[in-house]
Amino acid sequence: MSTRITEHNLNRMPPALRVSLEALYEPRDVGEQDYLEVDHVYTGDARALLPKVRPNSLALSVWSPPYFVGKDYETGLSYADWQALLSEVIRLHFPLIKPGGFLVVNIADILCFRDDSMPRIQAEAVNRKRCPVTREDILAAKKKHPYFNRHRLAKLLNCSEQTIDRRLNGNNIRGGKYEFQTRVKVVGGMVEDWALRAGFYTYDRRVWVKDAAWENSRWASLSYRAVDEFEYVYMFWKPGVTKFDRDRLSPEEWREWGSRGVWTFPSVRINDDHPAKFPKELPRRVIRLLTDPGDVVLDCFLGSGTTAVAAIELKRSFLGIDNNQTYTALAKRNVRGAMRRLC
Ligand SMILES: C[S@@+](CC[C@H](N)C(=O)[O-])C[C@H]1O[C@@H](n2cnc3c(N)ncnc32)[C@H](O)[C@@H]1O
Repeated sequence: MSTRITEHNLNRMPPALRVSLEALYEPRDVGEQDYLEVDHVYTGDARALLPKVRPNSLALSVWSPPYFVGKDYETGLSYADWQALLSEVIRLHFPLIKPGGFLVVNIADILCFRDDSMPRIQAEAVNRKRCPVTREDILAAKKKHPYFNRHRLAKLLNCSEQTIDRRLNGNNIRGGKYEFQTRVKVVGGMVEDWALRAGFYTYDRRVWVKDAAWENSRWASLSYRAVDEFEYVYMFWKPGVTKFDRDRLSPEEWREWGSRGVWTFPSVRINDDHPAKFPKELPRRVIRLLTDPGDVVLDCFLGSGTTAVAAIELKRSFLGIDNNQTYTALAKRNVRGAMRRLC
């Protein structure tokens, strides 16, 4: 069966998603010896290193990219840069995935997406006693007592330190009265468009229910918005023969998660060495469902190496890429640990 995208099925895509066949299958000038070696972690920009992955060699690529939520590793990244990064990385995947293989993207919607054009949400908290102290009162007091800290200002104005903070710094992290406005940015549609444009088809999507992030949720009491407690797992398929093996999971596992759209397991609770690790259970499930032992699994936003460790424990090969040397050093340590445990 031919797995190449033909002019015929390309023309059936919505016009906005059409690309030229040349763009999908552009010639590559990577020599045999230049291909990245499997079971290695590489430091570098995914866009520079993906063209060095052997074509049609990956059964699966599973990763969680920067979410555009202000993490340190996103410093200097504009929204347009972020879109360009993800769309390019997805595009570069198509030639690398085996026909019938999968690209799986774990991502969340952006809950605090800055939008200066958005009208202010002016919440009237009817169940709360509102403190009459205004931002102008506080600014006047600060001018009169420039050395007063928040605590002394609160005492002077007979209000709480929280009121001082809210009035000065914005009263909620999703866009308070004195802050820029933020809205929820749904990202799934964009990710799907980029994948379709690359030649993939959306095979499935699951929801991962994680720990509810109450600690970031001062706004929860001032709006109808929900706390942050789920992410998506989008599964994209490269046309080709996909082996279906019911024995990859036990009957109980099929019932509990293999055939279920909602996956529930805890987030990583200690992020002391990397700020945004996903739990090993996420790549573990994806790898068990979509690959066989010996297959090669890529993560090009490898971070601490979670996907590589899951792959090793499941007797798959891996390829890991991250552009941050501190994280690739950490990933290499974690990979070595996983390999030692197996011996
Ligand atoms: C959400 S984290 C992934 C965490 C990983 N799943 C784990 O469990 O540790 C995203 C990672 O992408 C990396 N990154 C950001 N931009 C990159 C780029 N252009 N190329 C490769 N890696 C990049 C960051 O350094 C960060 O480690």
